[in-house]
Amino acid sequence: MIRFSNLQSEHAEIRDDLDRAISRVIDSGRFVLGPEVERFERAFADYCGSEYAVAVNSGTSALHLALLAAGVEAGDEVITVSMTFTATVAAVVLAGAVPVMVDVNPEHWTMDVSKIEAALTERTAAILPVHLHGLMADMSGIRKVADKHGLVVIEDAAQAHGSERDGHVVGSLSDVATYSFYPGKNLGALGEGGALTTDDGDLAELLRLLRDWGARERYCPELRGFNYRMDAIQGAVLSEKLTHLDRWLDARRRVARAYDESLSLPPHLRATEPPSSRHTYHVYAVRVRQRDLAIASLTEAGIEYGIHYPVPVHLQPAYRELGTGVGSLPVSEQLANEFLSLPIHSGLSDGDVNQIVGALDRSYSGRSG
Ligand SMILES: Cc1ncc(COP(=O)(O)O)c(C=O)c1O
Repeated sequence: MIRFSNLQSEHAEIRDDLDRAISRVIDSGRFVLGPEVERFERAFADYCGSEYAVAVNSGTSALHLALLAAGVEAGDEVITVSMTFTATVAAVVLAGAVPVMVDVNPEHWTMDVSKIEAALTERTAAILPVHLHGLMADMSGIRKVADKHGLVVIEDAAQAHGSERDGHVVGSLSDVATYSFYPGKNLGALGEGGALTTDDGDLAELLRLLRDWGARERYCPELRGFNYRMDAIQGAVLSEKLTHLDRWLDARRRVARAYDESLSLPPHLRATEPPSSRHTYHVYAVRVRQRDLAIASLTEAGIEYGIHYPVPVHLQPAYRELGTGVGSLPVSEQLANEFLSLPIHSGLSDGDVNQIVGALDRSYSGRSG
């Protein structure tokens, strides 16, 4: 069996340190926010090259707060993508705003910058690109459009801790970036978690208030906030895991290079990395025309797989009334039909990669076994 991910072995490597971190929290008696979360916020801000990090209880909460704190108001429009996890679009709805989904670029699968201007209206307040699978969207292009039209930019970096594109790191060309620490993410908590990074001190202060009921003084909120606080155990665990992140990302990149070298698919049918970029391969996806055959071949060979994502948000039953229907975002729709995510993690050997590639090759040639 070749597993899709190997969280258990990554945790086994550092188990003593994780146990110590958790015990420290139990002994401290401080279970929500507090010094462990503050220590993680400092370390994560430094890792991201940002002035401030604000830790919250999920990536979805981070997106919701980013939108509110950036001034997005009820009825405002937010330009985003449909080829993403549901949470991106759901957070816009939660903020009372209207998601306007544009197509992604066929080469890199992130927001197609050339589609933004046609989607602008006088109600557009923000652009919310997603760094799908760990590859940053074209932030330089997005920043230019945003500056021209006076729009806020929020990066959904839930899948992209430590990513870079065209020499820019996540968060450096936006007003605020949001992250998820869901366990399966490249940096995952032992439960739910999320964060925002920004260089704007006032924005960071507002985010801190909003995540904790909007109250500087207990029981006397000055703003209508939420309970979006991070648990101290997650802060302690994430501080520990952050010290290993670059090593784990390097391992993912090594596996990606092995796929690049051995897959018989042309570059436009697999994940590619623009020059001067660091794709962090939260997901390594390929595009396969006959996905059922590829899945059958992988399954027969005992290889786990994923699909990220099989239905674009504008066609999901809960959200389709927000979109313009089948055929309106052709690249996203085609990708949803063809995407297949291959195993990628630090425990994969070259031999495993060869087996996976072999199983895919057999499916294209119609052979099995
Ligand atoms: C692109 C994207 N945005 C937002 C989220 C939401 O993060 P969370 O699951 O931590 O709420 C996720 C993660 O699942 C995601 O992949």
